[in-house]
Amino acid sequence: MKKYYELSEIKPESDRITGIPTGTGLDQMFYRIEFVNGTVKKVPLGGVPSYAVLNLTGIPDTGKSLLVEQFALTQASSGYKVLYVTTENPASFLYVTLKSRAEAMDIDFKKLEKNIVVIDVTEDEELRENPKALIDTMAYAIKEKKTKNTVIDSITALYEHKEMMARSIVRVFFNFLKKFHQTAIVVSQKRSSQAGESAEAAGGLAVAHIVDGTIIMDKRLIENKWESSYYRLPPGSILRTIRIDGCRLAPHDTNTWIFDITPEGLIDIRMPLSKFIQGGER
Ligand SMILES: Nc1ncnc2c1ncn2[C@@H]1O[C@H](COP(=O)(O)OP(=O)(O)O)[C@@H](O)[C@H]1O
Ligand SMILES: [Mg+2]
Repeated sequence: MKKYYELSEIKPESDRITGIPTGTGLDQMFYRIEFVNGTVKKVPLGGVPSYAVLNLTGIPDTGKSLLVEQFALTQASSGYKVLYVTTENPASFLYVTLKSRAEAMDIDFKKLEKNIVVIDVTEDEELRENPKALIDTMAYAIKEKKTKNTVIDSITALYEHKEMMARSIVRVFFNFLKKFHQTAIVVSQKRSSQAGESAEAAGGLAVAHIVDGTIIMDKRLIENKWESSYYRLPPGSILRTIRIDGCRLAPHDTNTWIFDITPEGLIDIRMPLSKFIQGGER
């Protein structure tokens, strides 16, 4: 097989990136540039870039799972199938979570049940320990069920006790998701020593380097008087933030945004942190 090509010999992927809605404020944070009468205009994509493989990272309890669930439900309710690889939350629990989240989103769960295809890796040692076995199963599911999107929550579980393998394992999954034209969000966990607001996760920066982009969710406990007056929040409260750290497929907002998790478990991205600090409407 030929190993080098002139640009003119390369068959390009679709040259127009569209937005794949997540059902969250992230959809307004990726955009495309249009030139109108000599001026540059940012037009929101209305979703994450199509065919992107994105890494979603953060310390525990920052809302990563809630966000990918909201993405999966949003896609499924629009009729697009989602492959959901669950490595931590067993399928029977995931079912309950998705059902209650669908209710909160006011979408008909019965109608979308067929559109979410689950591979439960939690109890399956072969799938968890052997990337090839998992990829074969995923390939079969993607082809058979014709899924357009994939969620892996989390990819960290696939190299739990072999972090030096992170880079090669993530690379295999990334290439696979690209080849199968999936728009994907993979969740990766942080180790306790890793700064909450950085792209670093278990396996170091391996995941962030390989994927098309990284989104970071974080939370800050308001502990002292200084923080309390700076953020104008009572001591003991939690400030949640989300940021697109980088994306090679589409221009994006680079601000840190604040968000709430509603009591029903929905991600509600509200305003840039800078605006919040300056006294934006609460
Ligand atoms: N209805 C809800 N269902 C689930 N989590 C909720 C709900 N309401 C609020 N939460 C908050 O969201 C957090 C769960 O976030 P999750 O997505 O599981 O975190 P991560 O996957 O980043 O560890 C919980 O710790 C809780 O504080
Ligand atoms: Mg989680």
